[in-house]
Amino acid sequence: MNQDELKTLVGQAALQYVVPGQIVGVGTGSTVNKFIDALASIKDQIKGAVSSSEASTIRLKALGIPVFDSNEVSELSVYIDGADEINALGHMVKGGGAALTREKIVAAQSKMFVCIADESKLVNVLGEFPLPVEVIPMASSRIMSQFVQMGGQAQIRMKDGAPLVTDNGQHIIDVKGLKIKDPVAFETQVSQWPGVVTVGVFAHQKAQVCLLGTSEGVKTLKF
Ligand code: 5RP
Repeated sequence: MNQDELKTLVGQAALQYVVPGQIVGVGTGSTVNKFIDALASIKDQIKGAVSSSEASTIRLKALGIPVFDSNEVSELSVYIDGADEINALGHMVKGGGAALTREKIVAAQSKMFVCIADESKLVNVLGEFPLPVEVIPMASSRIMSQFVQMGGQAQIRMKDGAPLVTDNGQHIIDVKGLKIKDPVAFETQVSQWPGVVTVGVFAHQKAQVCLLGTSEGVKTLKF
C-alpha cells in the first residue's frame, strides 16, 4: 500500500471514534482530508464539526457538514487530527500545514485526541521533522536566535516569495536540528517566550489514541 492508501485507511478507521448526534473536532492536512471525506458518508448521523483551519472548513462545508465556531461548543468528545511526528507516548510534532494554533485550541477543548497517521510518522525522539512555531512577526528574529542557542537552525516559512501568513495573521518559523527528549518540558519552556503564539510540540495536548496505517493494516496505539 502506498502512503496515500494508508492515509485513506486511517481516515476511514477514525469513523469508529465519532459519536453519533455530536459535534466532532476536525484537524487539518492530507490525512484529515481523507477523514473528512469519510465523515461525509455519515454526515446525517452527526451534528457537525469544529474545524481547526480555513482549509478544513472549506472542505467540510463543501461536503455538506455544518461547521460550528469553537466558542459555541463547550466540550467535544473527540478531536481527530494528523501529525508530522508521534512518539511512543503520544507526544506529537504538528504544524506542517501551518494550522497548529487552532489545532491546539480544538484539541484542548476535546476529551480525546485521536491521531491518524501513516507509519512513517512514528519516531523514537521528536525533532527530525522541522519544528513549526507560530510567532508574532515582530518577535521572529529574537525567537530564531533563541532556537540557535538551543542548537537548532531556524528559518521563516515562505510562500510565493513572502513569509507565509497563517489563518491567524502570523508567521511560522521552522526549526531543524532539535532532539526533543522531554517534550512536556520543551513545550512549557518555548510557550513562555514572548512572541511565541504556539509551539508545534503537542505534549500537554497529546494523543490518547493513534490509528497508525501500516502495510499490515491499521494498528491502534493507546497512550
Ligand atoms: C497541520 C498538521 C497536520 O496534522 C500535519 O502536518 C500532518 O499532515 P499530513 O496529514 O498532510 O501529513 O499539523 O498543521
